[in-house]
Amino acid sequence: MNIILLGPPGAGKGTQARLMEDRHGMKQLSTGDMLRAAVAAGTETGRRAKTIMDRGELVPDDVVVGIISDRLGQPDVRGGFILDGFPRNTAQAEALDRMLAGKGLKLDAVIEMKVDDEALVGRITGRYTCAKCGKGYHDRFEIPKAAGVCDVCGGTQFNRRADDNEKTVRDRLFVYNAQTAPLVQYYSGRGVLRTIDGMADIAEVTRQIEDVLKGPQRPI
Ligand code: AP5
Ligand code: MG
Ligand code: ZN
Repeated sequence: MNIILLGPPGAGKGTQARLMEDRHGMKQLSTGDMLRAAVAAGTETGRRAKTIMDRGELVPDDVVVGIISDRLGQPDVRGGFILDGFPRNTAQAEALDRMLAGKGLKLDAVIEMKVDDEALVGRITGRYTCAKCGKGYHDRFEIPKAAGVCDVCGGTQFNRRADDNEKTVRDRLFVYNAQTAPLVQYYSGRGVLRTIDGMADIAEVTRQIEDVLKGPQRPI
């Protein structure tokens, strides 16, 4: 299946996309992760993206559309993909429609994850990831079983994102409400939108996503 996880910063898109990847073998396509990899590699795209990401604004459409178009052309996405953080405005959604049509792919569901703004700020400012394997943790909601040691790989180094401070989170939320939230209308009008309660705990959110995947689909 091919799905979009649509939701504000901190909604749990990355957390759930990684779980779906493990359970169903679908590929997580996160433009945020791909841009952060470009920043870490010091590429021209990465250098241009970094200042924009640190401000919480959107990287130009042609950059992210190019990244996703390349990715959707690779054979491993044929078994299903989860778009995490793309599309983020109407122009990107229209570009995605053209890409999917051109590649003979369909979209099965767009899952909107609803979470209160104040909860989002708490989630993001407490978030960190394992430097070695990328497993995500949270100071309060998801703590490693042994303090300071990654459950998955045993790593002991952890990273916090440069844009995970309260000021930038609020700016990212503003951008989401202004530019990305209109996509709820865009996809509900086409009959593929499913809304879930992103305020529930991680396991319950996974269960709600599984219900959507099991339910009737009318791919577009
Ligand atoms: P991106 O990396 O996409 O960030 P984002 O959309 O702001 O979302 P986050 O990754 O912060 O949140 P998430 O929903 O993945 O939450 P997570 O699962 O980690 O984008 C970053 C930047 O890149 C953008 O600002 C922009 O500049 C640029 N960019 C990216 N894509 C772009 C595009 N298409 N166009 C233009 N620019 C683009 O969860 C958060 C925390 O909460 C974790 O600690 C987790 O453990 C915890 N948590 C998760 N679920 C729950 C739960 N149910 N209960 C309690 N805690 C939970
Ligand atoms: Mg994410
Ligand atoms: Zn790890």
